[in-house]
Amino acid sequence: MLGSPAGGDAGLSHVFVRRCTEADVSALETREPPGSGYARGAFARQEAGVVEFLVAVAVADGTVVGSAELTNGEPSELKNLGVDEGVRGHGLGTALIRAAELTVDARITSAGVGERSLVVGVGLDNPRAASLYERLGYRRTGVLSSTTYSYVDAEGVTQTVTERDEELIKRW
Ligand SMILES: CC(C)(COP(=O)(O)OP(=O)(O)OC[C@H]1O[C@@H](n2cnc3c(N)ncnc32)[C@H](O)[C@@H]1OP(=O)(O)O)[C@@H](O)C(=O)NCCC(=O)NCCS
Repeated sequence: MLGSPAGGDAGLSHVFVRRCTEADVSALETREPPGSGYARGAFARQEAGVVEFLVAVAVADGTVVGSAELTNGEPSELKNLGVDEGVRGHGLGTALIRAAELTVDARITSAGVGERSLVVGVGLDNPRAASLYERLGYRRTGVLSSTTYSYVDAEGVTQTVTERDEELIKRW
């Protein structure tokens, strides 16, 4: 398991972060909008060795309450960080980010070479997420990019969005 328990005041007295399993995907799929395919796709990326699909799990009942994808390249990038709406603001996002940093640490330690760093792209319209990262030691780079992606909304409708992101980086 990665990272430390978090979220005590959410009633989630123990939440741990670990790699997603096939069983987690089946559980996540029952809660996704029909046709979303996000959890299955992220798990396939993990199986292909492209990312680690990290999930935050409530120990009490095994529910997955948040997730993020950590790319395997160097520098590693953290993507698609998300925490269930009802349990935001209780440290779970922080726990997922910390777990990603620990994973990078372990990789560099085992390779014996490389830079301990992590990159994130944060939407220009998402200042709250940017401030969370900055609080955790990430620095703005001024490097901007546009990402177009599709997702299935809660009503099952496919939405295509173009997002402007700024790259933030932490080196340690
Ligand atoms: C961003 C997010 C993952 C943070 O998870 P969390 O468990 O709420 O995070 P923590 O409890 O560890 O930290 C709380 C901080 O997260 C940020 N945050 C809280 N709610 C947020 C929201 N709805 N959207 C964006 N950031 C949020 C704030 O900086 C907050 O600090 P504050 O309470 O002092 O304002 C979560 O809010 C979320 O899933 N948001 C929607 C998806 C998203 O914006 N992902 C980030 C992409 S870069």
